[in-house]
Amino acid sequence: MKISVTTSDPCALTADCLIVGIHQDTPVTGVAAAVNRATKGLVKRLLDRNDMDGTAGRCVMLPLDTGVNAQRLLLVGLGKPGTARDFETAVRGAAETLGRSGSRNAVFALTSSGRRAAETGQQARLVAQGFSDAQYRFDQMKSHKDKRPATLARLTLAVAKGKQVASARQGVREGNAIAAGLKLARDLGNLPGNICTPTYLAQQARKLGRSHALKVSVLNENRMKTLKMGSLLSVSQGSRQPAKLIVMEYGGAKRGDAPIVLVGKGLTFDAGGISLKPAGGMEEMKFDMCGGASVFGTLLAIAELKLKVNVVGIVPSSENLPDGAANKPGDIVTSMAGKTIEIINTDAEGRLILCDALTYAERYQPAAVIDIATLTGACVVALGSPASGLFSNDDELADDLLSAGTESGDRAWRMPVWDDYQAQLKSPYADMANVGGRSAGAVTAACFLARFTETMKWAHLDIAGTAWAGGKNKGSTGRPVPLLTRYLINLAPTA
Ligand code: BES
Ligand code: MN
Ligand code: ZN
Repeated sequence: MKISVTTSDPCALTADCLIVGIHQDTPVTGVAAAVNRATKGLVKRLLDRNDMDGTAGRCVMLPLDTGVNAQRLLLVGLGKPGTARDFETAVRGAAETLGRSGSRNAVFALTSSGRRAAETGQQARLVAQGFSDAQYRFDQMKSHKDKRPATLARLTLAVAKGKQVASARQGVREGNAIAAGLKLARDLGNLPGNICTPTYLAQQARKLGRSHALKVSVLNENRMKTLKMGSLLSVSQGSRQPAKLIVMEYGGAKRGDAPIVLVGKGLTFDAGGISLKPAGGMEEMKFDMCGGASVFGTLLAIAELKLKVNVVGIVPSSENLPDGAANKPGDIVTSMAGKTIEIINTDAEGRLILCDALTYAERYQPAAVIDIATLTGACVVALGSPASGLFSNDDELADDLLSAGTESGDRAWRMPVWDDYQAQLKSPYADMANVGGRSAGAVTAACFLARFTETMKWAHLDIAGTAWAGGKNKGSTGRPVPLLTRYLINLAPTA
């Protein structure tokens, strides 16, 4: 799909479809008003009769033969003005409705709302990202692939003033890069555990390194033994697939500038180990590497944008299976940091591989380290799918991540990492236990990680509820690639 930007009057543009937004509880202005005039009051009549309102994502599509030059008019509810999440819902609705219409090309009028350049940029980004992401299909594993081309080939964004063209173009650039990152993260997430193994992820990292000039190194189990990563290795010892610690370095800034380090959980399948999970829905545990996948996707996006930041992606990758050599409840392991851990539940394996990867991150003396993990079912209970759980030992870092989430429509919600919860991790035998009991499960998991990140500015995103969806849109979502990419764009100096 080719996306371009124009300042031409959207009513005058020839197209299969003209897409116009309607805000909730706001008078009809801008392009919507112009279309209303050109169609002799059609828009107002639709609103008066309740065939349309500004509810985010609500769509009505009409054939047109007079008034405007487009063959169809698609009115889409934008929700509240200035809300990225609502605008994203609107874009998704518009893309789906348009997809069913057989339109080959469309004009999306961005002029009906805010005149500020920043808002135009944000809308352009969300349109580019949303329309590409809506065309996503995962058919790699089907013998008969869907050969129909995506119906929409060309999309023109109409902006009101010349001044908005540059920000709209930049928005499209960012949206395309994020869409590419989302696609990579979604593909890796959707691949089954028998194909997407730690070794496969390592190969994909090398491939990404070649295509996007990243420095990639993969630490094998021997190297991890030398580094004394006893916690990580205790998880992989129960699997026939060797663990990999994947390191990808992107250098967009000066050599000496402290990097942001992203650490993504890469559990390619989590059966729970000896603390075996119940059978129902266990196939979803192929998604337990989505944190790692989001690190791949984010690196791809920022490399496409040539962002002036240094970023290191670290993906500790393993399987968690029951086996004669697997961790047993009661086992005590020694982490790279020298701290001992009593394994009460072998299904709390994510923190066991992450703690050693976080200790490894210290050698980069990062400006900040952010880990991303499908860490706890408790986080799904707490926040569901709208928000990822955010935990941090630094308020500024937390605020930056929260606003990146709001701006990108890929939201997070902050949870505490108070010392009050640390007591739950006490063990009579070792420095800590790997679980903290039934209450506050997402928090005690974060408290466990906090013990390995005391020397760094650190944030943890628990994406257990956001990384994949069930139901009709079953599959990997690619989240939080939009949040992370936005955070890094905001950090990077422009031009
Ligand atoms: N990968 C799971 C977390 C998970 C569960 C994510 C369900 C999404 C949906 C993680 O490794 C795990 O099993 N966590 C345990 C921790 C518990 C044993 C303290 C959990 O959440 O049940
Ligand atoms: Mn588990
Ligand atoms: Zn897991």
